[in-house]
Amino acid sequence: MKRIQPAKKIIGTVSLPGDKSISHRAALLGAVSSQGITVHNFSDGADCTSTLCCLEKAGAKIVKKGNTLSVSSPSGLSSPSSVLDAGNSGTTARTLCGLIAGKPGVKATISGDSSLAKRPMLRVVKPLRSAGASIGGPSGGASLPLEITGTRLQGVTHVLETPSAQVKTALLLAGLSSEEPTTIIEPVSTRDHTERMLGHLGIPLYLDRHSITMAPSRAPRGSEWTIPGDFSSAAFWIVAAAVLPDSSVSIPGVGLNPTRTGLLRVLERMGLAFTVEESGLWGGEPAGTITVHSSRLRGTEVCGTEIPLLIDELPVLAVAAALAEGTTEIRDAMELRFKESDRIVTVVKALSAIGADIVELEDGWRIKGPSKLTGGRVSAAGDHRVAMALAVAGLAAEAPVEIEDPDCAAVSYPGFFSTLDRLACRSIEE
Ligand code: S3P
Repeated sequence: MKRIQPAKKIIGTVSLPGDKSISHRAALLGAVSSQGITVHNFSDGADCTSTLCCLEKAGAKIVKKGNTLSVSSPSGLSSPSSVLDAGNSGTTARTLCGLIAGKPGVKATISGDSSLAKRPMLRVVKPLRSAGASIGGPSGGASLPLEITGTRLQGVTHVLETPSAQVKTALLLAGLSSEEPTTIIEPVSTRDHTERMLGHLGIPLYLDRHSITMAPSRAPRGSEWTIPGDFSSAAFWIVAAAVLPDSSVSIPGVGLNPTRTGLLRVLERMGLAFTVEESGLWGGEPAGTITVHSSRLRGTEVCGTEIPLLIDELPVLAVAAALAEGTTEIRDAMELRFKESDRIVTVVKALSAIGADIVELEDGWRIKGPSKLTGGRVSAAGDHRVAMALAVAGLAAEAPVEIEDPDCAAVSYPGFFSTLDRLACRSIEE
């Protein structure tokens, strides 16, 4: 249990863990690259460690010194002798499934924890099968465990039914070992880290507004670069600084990829006082410094194509909305029901327990503010992003918020509570 004491303000500079999505992709592409890759600021979250453990079992060579990671596969990937455990990480399970499906001669089973075992896998299994992949399992591929027998896949055109960067990435990784082009049509844009990293590693891609074509090609080349800080982790400090009076937080080296920073555009509409200073491309990814000051936020509407650009930030946006003047409606976010918990339900239960006026919709929330958050005991249902969003609510509440299951924050941000402690001048008690 962690008790978050209300804070008068938060002030300071935050150094973020490396972006989780980019870290997964660097490890996966390193394992199939010609000379291996080295990245600095690799995410220290448990999800990325799951990816590394799975790759190591499948024959990759992993060398980690602090947050610098080198990945290569001098003898190529091979069949692991035991089950690959993706832990809590949907990105690991789905993207690794694509990578292995396209590797002839490699056989593997992917499993995960009890939360991941409930999450849908057909969204990745179905399109991979249409390219010739052999994927089975006790549920026929609907959920973990997945049993994969790698084979040479055909180049096909996939239309993404669910706007999911994990599915897009699985298909591109599978297509890397095909002898024909792979085309993905993406009616609604999602995070484009895989496309950027493939380009950075010398793989020819033809990008249109809604489609990606990857030519049959050789292995990605080797490279060394620094991964920008994770915008999804920055989101907690952005909201905390905005909702607390007299606050100011500066976040250098954070990823500014526009397919990830939808929260900033929504908060700007809500009245956020902030600046952004760009510092160029890091491994093909824009990065820079975001500085946020206390702001008077107003309610807004968030829906449609904006949702995938801030999907992971919606729990903390709900906290901002509870403290903003007026009504905020979040729609078209049904995907929240398939995350580490059913986030629509988890957030409603936890925020209403501490005094927020939040109503569950089929595909989102209606939140009326500003509410006085009263404090109380809440559960994050083992979901890292909900636990950290509740901690931000605790900073802005009138009495302590006790989070029953705070340890899940380590899935993406192991240093979250100590950073909170520092920025808010020791507001945590065990
Ligand atoms: C991710 C994509 C998103 C996101 C997840 C990470 C990725 O999931 O919610 O946290 O790294 O590709 P979906 O692709 O399922 O939308």
